[in-house]
Amino acid sequence: MVWKLVFQSMLMLLMFELAAAPPPPPIAKPGCRDRCGDISIPYPFGIGNNCYMNESFSIECNKTGAFISAINMEVLNISAERAAATVKGPIISSNCSGRENGVPLNLSETPFVFSYYYNVFVAVGCNTQALMSGTRQTLVGCVSPCSDVESKNFCRAYPSSLLQVFNPKLEATDDREGCKLAFLVNETWFESNISDPFTVQHRDYVPTELVWMMDLNRFIDDQSFYCRSRYQNGSFGSECVCNGGYEGYPYLGCKGKHIYIFLQKYE
Ligand SMILES: *[C@@H]1O[C@H](CO)[C@@H](O)[C@H](O)[C@H]1NC(C)=O
Ligand SMILES: *[C@@H]1O[C@H](CO)[C@@H](O)[C@H](O)[C@H]1NC(C)=O
Ligand SMILES: *[C@@H]1O[C@H](CO)[C@@H](O)[C@H](O)[C@H]1NC(C)=O
Ligand SMILES: *[C@@H]1O[C@H](CO)[C@@H](O)[C@H](O)[C@H]1NC(C)=O
Ligand SMILES: *[C@@H]1O[C@H](CO)[C@@H](O)[C@H](O)[C@H]1NC(C)=O
Ligand SMILES: *[C@@H]1O[C@H](CO)[C@@H](O)[C@H](O)[C@H]1NC(C)=O
Ligand SMILES: *[C@@H]1O[C@H](CO)[C@@H](O)[C@H](O)[C@H]1NC(C)=O
Ligand SMILES: *[C@@H]1O[C@H](CO)[C@@H](O)[C@H](O)[C@H]1NC(C)=O
Repeated sequence: MVWKLVFQSMLMLLMFELAAAPPPPPIAKPGCRDRCGDISIPYPFGIGNNCYMNESFSIECNKTGAFISAINMEVLNISAERAAATVKGPIISSNCSGRENGVPLNLSETPFVFSYYYNVFVAVGCNTQALMSGTRQTLVGCVSPCSDVESKNFCRAYPSSLLQVFNPKLEATDDREGCKLAFLVNETWFESNISDPFTVQHRDYVPTELVWMMDLNRFIDDQSFYCRSRYQNGSFGSECVCNGGYEGYPYLGCKGKHIYIFLQKYE
């Protein structure tokens, strides 16, 4: 009898816990779409007027996919937790039969930066030197080896922390010809999905990670959340979470937890 009571009250508690689990907080402003097809669109991004933080974060959603209009790049995923957007990144190539060369990118004067934390710069080819200049004229690049095992003829380098221009120059260090490639790619993806980097010449794009600058000054006295950044310039890639006692989606504001829900349920 006693056990039955204990069991019943445990069951009630369990049901209550399930019922009380709050729905995930909205990631879009009220009245705004939070998805484009399969892709979730968290604020500061948004679809349509008054739904994004400013024009730079406007998403065009159509039958082809989701595009960051300001830089005309197609989005594959946006992760607010990581403060990163996965976009279709270009593949720069030279002397590869049947492919166009890929368009270099210049994100200057936009809030977007190529993530040095999630991306790796890869050059593919035999004795290929690939160099690109960063925002502050720092050169990034590497020279690939030339072995008999074609799949080993690539090299990688880490981009500088505030890279906004992707315009690698491909050169042969000897008189060999042949296909050469350079791209900035999500490192985890590259390691787990690409065993032979030469196969990238048959792809239209690689997944590239962008981070963005957000003006967090308006929150400066706000105790309800905190942000951290992996970037030299703390304005970029701010990963924000609500502080203890607060809940919600930090970029739209964290609110104090409502403890009274507990009482309401027992009425
Ligand atoms: C969708 O928008 C992108 C970017 O503006 C554009 O390139 C593409 O052609 C559009 N697709 C359709 C089906 O309108
Ligand atoms: C998109 O980002 C979310 C959040 O980080 C992650 O869980 C998910 O696996 C990502 N999707 C793809 C296709 O990478
Ligand atoms: C990138 O664009 C900015 C202006 O938007 C320009 O000043 C700069 O020279 C460009 N950089 C390259 C490498 O094209
Ligand atoms: C591409 O091939 C041509 C000859 O077909 C050669 O002259 C040129 O040096 C090659 N370019 C590179 C970057 O390898
Ligand atoms: C990088 O790619 C991996 C594997 O596809 C994915 O799980 C991860 O979410 C991507 N990184 C970011 C920052 O989106
Ligand atoms: C990358 O590889 C993982 C497994 O390693 C697979 O689940 C995923 O679909 C692959 N992604 C792409 C874009 O090929
Ligand atoms: C949007 O906001 C970001 C962050 O404050 C800023 O860097 C960017 O210049 C703004 N874009 C426009 C079009 O005002
Ligand atoms: C970060 O970079 C932006 C744009 O280049 C600049 O306006 C801002 O002053 C920088 N902030 C810091 C803390 O260096």
